[in-house]
Amino acid sequence: MRVISSPIQDVEVGNIADSSLEKILESYSDRGIIVIVDQNTHDLCLEFLITTFPQLKKSEIILLPVGEENKVMEVCMQVWNAFSEYGFGRKDLVLNLGGGVVTDTGGFLASVYKRGMDFIHIPTSLLGMIDASIGGKNGIDLNQYKNQLGTITAPKRVFVDPIFMGTLPEAEFYNGYAEMLKYALIRDKVLFEEIKDFSKEKDFSDLDVIVKCIQIKVDIVDGDLYEKAERKLLNFGHTVGHAIEGFFLESVPISHGHAVALGMCAEAYLSMDKGKLSKDEYKQIEQVLTRVYPFIKFTDEDTKAIIKLMYNDKKNESGKIYSVLLNGIGSSTFHNELLESEIGKALLHISMLSDIYN
Ligand SMILES: NC(=O)c1ccc[n+]([C@@H]2O[C@H](COP(=O)([O-])OP(=O)(O)OC[C@H]3O[C@@H](n4cnc5c(N)ncnc54)[C@H](O)[C@@H]3O)[C@@H](O)[C@H]2O)c1
Repeated sequence: MRVISSPIQDVEVGNIADSSLEKILESYSDRGIIVIVDQNTHDLCLEFLITTFPQLKKSEIILLPVGEENKVMEVCMQVWNAFSEYGFGRKDLVLNLGGGVVTDTGGFLASVYKRGMDFIHIPTSLLGMIDASIGGKNGIDLNQYKNQLGTITAPKRVFVDPIFMGTLPEAEFYNGYAEMLKYALIRDKVLFEEIKDFSKEKDFSDLDVIVKCIQIKVDIVDGDLYEKAERKLLNFGHTVGHAIEGFFLESVPISHGHAVALGMCAEAYLSMDKGKLSKDEYKQIEQVLTRVYPFIKFTDEDTKAIIKLMYNDKKNESGKIYSVLLNGIGSSTFHNELLESEIGKALLHISMLSDIYN
């Protein structure tokens, strides 16, 4: 078992049967335990968890509807009503078993109910393991805007066991891969070299790489929990990516990882365009992203709508759009102002890549 310790949260990576979860559950033996799942993790992950920890047999199971479109207040209201009807108190424990949608929503539900219940994350998707479950951010979407309502409250502990990925659909590995690439691009050139050719499921379950990714996030979050400065680096690819994700939310939703991959390509292009990133390194990044992710053609109207959505980004100040840019592979800076004309050029470029690579 590898333990990544931090003042904010400890993360245990490895066989969950050997983790401290059993001891924690024992400490709640006279309390209620609520396991939050979605339909997929209910069907594919819950039985394993309960077989491994039989004390969970008496827990209440809360089933969330699958998918980002359900990371909304209406769903939370139903769950809080259920918490209230079951008589759950603030000393009970919430255990979130699922991908980022379950951990974001479950963390939000627990951190708000009765001003905060203890909760634990057991991420079951690659993206959940290396990103969503780490760092204490919980939240839900508001209309087209991602993660507008939320809290920064760390889970009591996070248990990362790649065994849960045994049932993860292949596309979901590439969803998480985008965040792996993000860590490498902002912080670790060696990691980029290690993972740039990843393509098979066995690669993505590599414990060393998972630990490296979690460690990068933990190191950054430890220094800046409330995202006043360095934590903004974790938004590389997300200024443009979240806007693209939001743009498609009400038509044909695309995965978070896919949107972030497109966003990283646009923001790497912007880094090159602004003279920060060399053409050669930009090309390396473009090659990796276009190898894995389908690029999308945007009309002029789409581009305008995407830029409009970017004005809602959390990192903006005084009505200006700011983003993370790369100085090189493995090196990044935050608080770079982007002009609409520059963003338009980058979106046009990634739109053109759809003709070349798809
Ligand atoms: N809080 C944060 O810091 C943070 C960081 C990054 C992303 N996020 C959020 O995470 C969410 C995306 O997470 P995600 O990609 O895990 O999405 P998700 O939770 O929707 O999971 C993706 C799909 O995989 C299924 N699934 C999950 N685990 C499975 C398993 N073991 N076997 C079979 N199917 C499984 C889910 O049911 C779903 O259909 C977004 O809402 C994003 O905003 C949060």
